[in-house]
Parts: sequence; structure tokens; C-alpha cells
Amino acid sequence: MPAATAAPDTRWALVTGGGKGIGEAVCRLLAAQGLKVAVADIDGANAARVAASLGAPHRALTADVSDEAAVRRLFDELEREVGPVAVLVNVAGLLLLPGGERPLIKDMTLDLWERSFAVNARGSFLVGREYLARREAAPLPAGQGGRVVFFGSVAAQLGGYRSSAAYIAAKAAVLGFTKALARESAHLGVTVNAVAPGLIDTDMLRSTVSGSGALEAAAKNIPLGRIGSVDDVAAAVAYLVSPQAAYLTGVVIDVNGGYRMQ
Ligand SMILES: NC(=O)c1ccc[n+]([C@@H]2O[C@H](COP(=O)([O-])OP(=O)(O)OC[C@H]3O[C@@H](n4cnc5c(N)ncnc54)[C@H](O)[C@@H]3O)[C@@H](O)[C@H]2O)c1
Repeated sequence: MPAATAAPDTRWALVTGGGKGIGEAVCRLLAAQGLKVAVADIDGANAARVAASLGAPHRALTADVSDEAAVRRLFDELEREVGPVAVLVNVAGLLLLPGGERPLIKDMTLDLWERSFAVNARGSFLVGREYLARREAAPLPAGQGGRVVFFGSVAAQLGGYRSSAAYIAAKAAVLGFTKALARESAHLGVTVNAVAPGLIDTDMLRSTVSGSGALEAAAKNIPLGRIGSVDDVAAAVAYLVSPQAAYLTGVVIDVNGGYRMQ
């Protein structure tokens, strides 16, 4: 029997933090798979650069995920132009290391704690709430699977060696919120999952190390023997948003080269 040809995936995907790093790789892979991608970032110039390189119909939006009104405007603007967003990937995240150093809890300012939670945890809540409210009001057409993917971190699972307690705790909140939203979205046929990257070669990881050879040294503690790439993580996201992942919800996919095994 000839292999069935899959219909092209024409859903709209909103990717926050899409202006660089893992988010940019997610935008590129989803676009390559046929999805129409809205690249959103607090850095509007980077979002525009990525969207322009993808070409039409992909588009760029500027938004701070920690700002309630901005998140509402983001969905308003996008859905007014293109209709319902089927796929939400909230990659935007923030790791604060004042002076390049990992702050210890005893020295941590409340401001650093609050800013870490604002982007990582509150941001996930705001975009997840907005997506759910909109799909409740305007469900997706039958057969068009709704998907949400959040970003945790191996730091939340291990206690973290390079990040701050504020980041670790905020990412743990994201993993809990993923399950809560998965339960409350299931009746819509929307799945909600998370990825937990390990050490992935981006500006964020490089901000945690100093000196040449530091990443190579870190790779020695990873069973697969290397730091992960942004494409390693994007591949897990692409699977989670695909029709093939319709029966996964409330799960966390670890993309860490075996750095942490459950
Ligand atoms: N790189 C790693 O090793 C690693 C490991 C575990 C988890 N993560 C998580 O993966 C995600 C992507 O990380 P990355 O390494 O690509 O980071 P990055 O710092 O390279 O890129 C983050 C992107 O998010 C955007 N952003 C930051 N704050 C924002 C806000 N308030 N609103 C909208 N956009 C905002 C930035 O402008 C940037 O484009 C983050 O959630 C991060 O916490 C990364």
C-alpha cells in the first residue's frame, strides 16, 4: 500500500522569545514544517530579523511576556490579523546573574527574585491564561490540535549548579503550571507540555561560564559527551506540537543528553 501523504500543517504558532537562541531555532523548525509562525520577543528588532528571514506569511511582534496588558495586546493584534492561534510555545525566559556571578540565597535581593518570577513564571501564566481564554471562547476547528509548550529547565529538577535559586524556583513553578493548565485545557483537545533543556549552547548558557574551555569541561559531565544545540531542543518542541503527540499532555520532555535521568 502506498504511504499516506500527510496534509500540510497550516496552523498558526505563536513563539515567544523567538528572537534568538532556542526560540529562534523553534521558529525556524516549525516554519520548515509548514506552520505559520508569529515570532514574538521583547527585543522587537531580533523578532523582526527572524521573521524577515523566514519570509511571508511569518510575522514579528514585540511583547514582554511579563506584562499583562502587553500579552493581551499581543494576542489581540495577532488574532485580529490571522485568526485563532493553535500553537503556543513560550520560550521567553530570563536568568539574572549580577556581575556574572550566581547569587547565593543569603545575598539575593527581592528585586532579583521578583524579576526572575515575573518573566519565567508569571510570563507562562499570562500567555497560558490568554491562550486558554481565547480557545474557550473560539475553539479550534475539529481536527486542528491545539498545543501549548512551556520551558522548564534541568535546573528546576536538579537544584541547578549555575543558575540562581530564583530561576530554579521560577522554572519549578512553570513545571507545576504546565500540569494545571493541561488539566484545564484537555476538554478543548488542547495538550499542554513542557521541555526541560539541560546545558544548551546559547547566550544564556554562556553567561553562566567564564574562561575558555568551561563549556568543554561541563560537557564531560554529560553522558552523551556534548553540550546540547538549539536544534536538539527545537526537535522536541516540533514533536510536542505535531499531530503525532496528540496523546501526550502534562508531560515534561528532558533534552539534556542524559545529564539528569529520572
Ligand atoms: N540555554 C540553556 O542552557 C537553557 C537551559 C534550560 C532552560 N533554558 C530555557 O530555554 C529558554 C530559551 O533559552 P535561551 O538559552 O535560548 O535564552 P536566550 O537568553 O538566548 O534567549 C531568550 C530570548 O527570550 C527573550 N526574552 C527575555 N525576556 C523576555 C520577555 N520578558 N518577554 C519576551 N521575550 C523575552 C530574549 O529577548 C531572547 O530573545 C528559556 O526559557 C530558558 O530559561 C535554557
